[in-house]
Amino acid sequence: MRDHFGRKVNYMRISITDLCNLRCVYCMPEAGVPKRRHATNLTFEAIEALVRAGAEMGIDKIRLTGGEPLVRRGVLELVEKIGAIPGIRDFAMTTNGILLPAMARDLKRAGLDRVNISLDTFEPEKYAKITRCGRLEDALAGIEAARAAGLTPIKLNTVLIKGFNDDEIEAFVDYTKDHAVDVRFIELMPLGQGADYAFGQYLSGDAVLERAPALTPVVAAPGAPARLFELPGARGRVGLINPISHRFCADCNRIRVTADGKLKPCLHSDEELDVAALHQAGKSYREILEMAVTAKPERHHIDERETIKKRNMNEIGG
Ligand code: GTP
Ligand code: 5AD
Ligand code: SF4
Repeated sequence: MRDHFGRKVNYMRISITDLCNLRCVYCMPEAGVPKRRHATNLTFEAIEALVRAGAEMGIDKIRLTGGEPLVRRGVLELVEKIGAIPGIRDFAMTTNGILLPAMARDLKRAGLDRVNISLDTFEPEKYAKITRCGRLEDALAGIEAARAAGLTPIKLNTVLIKGFNDDEIEAFVDYTKDHAVDVRFIELMPLGQGADYAFGQYLSGDAVLERAPALTPVVAAPGAPARLFELPGARGRVGLINPISHRFCADCNRIRVTADGKLKPCLHSDEELDVAALHQAGKSYREILEMAVTAKPERHHIDERETIKKRNMNEIGG
């Protein structure tokens, strides 16, 4: 599938719940979100049908996101269904890792290839502060469980937050010396209720290169948002995901589905297609996917302080 700007779309990110067992300050409202009635979530059958249609049209990469995808009941069953669809060559999940000690093996057995795990700090008190309720040791146990289960290569997602974790940039970079993971620093994006917070705490990814001048560039896969670097002799790598200072929209290869079943052509636009409603009105999943790809905008405008307010990150999945 190609969009109006010649970009090949082969990646679908699916948020399977807006619920989460953490409350990261830039992502979730402090009080959490009301539990949706099952009817508003896309059913597993609809998700499977959407992925199947996508796979026939050239989608070969699927990522399950949240909220926290592992809190959705029956997630293993969904993983098994998607894992069995021919044509999906990369099947991944983005998780906070808290539930991985209990679930990593079963996820791997069910067909999940790999996980990206969110970790913004190595300090227990700071972890409790940024997640509002999480325990660092649980997240670290999750990383270890993913490694032991072979959910690899593992990527850590570290959102750069000025005045909060910029003092740990070197520690995160050093972590790659002995660990075969990609540590990816992500620029804080203004979204939903977290937008005001994001404008105050934003730090450019370039700060990482200033703090860790020994990093040298590695050739990255085309279409991947992260620019990759490594320390000499390190087992892992360092990635910079800079959606604001170095916009990567020109290489955008993805569409996303929100927790309540809306196809979003772009993370940062309010435009959405209601999958269940369109399907009920007679559109095939193939047609619905084509509509989403056709609607992809050329680029986002968050660098001009235009932001979407309608949704928080926990509904979109990043
Ligand atoms: P890999 O396939 O492992 O490279 O994963 P990924 O980077 O596509 O997924 P992940 O869920 O780990 O996302 C990492 C960060 O990149 C998150 O903060 C996402 O919000 C952000 N991100 C992913 N895709 C886009 C995008 O299309 N636009 C913008 N602005 N940010 C994105
Ligand atoms: N800006 C940047 N990254 C964010 N994430 C969540 N909210 C934001 C934001 N406002 C990250 C999470 C997770 C990934 C899916 O997105 O830390 O790793
Ligand atoms: Fe939960 Fe991830 Fe959002 Fe944190 S960033 S509240 S872990 S969904």
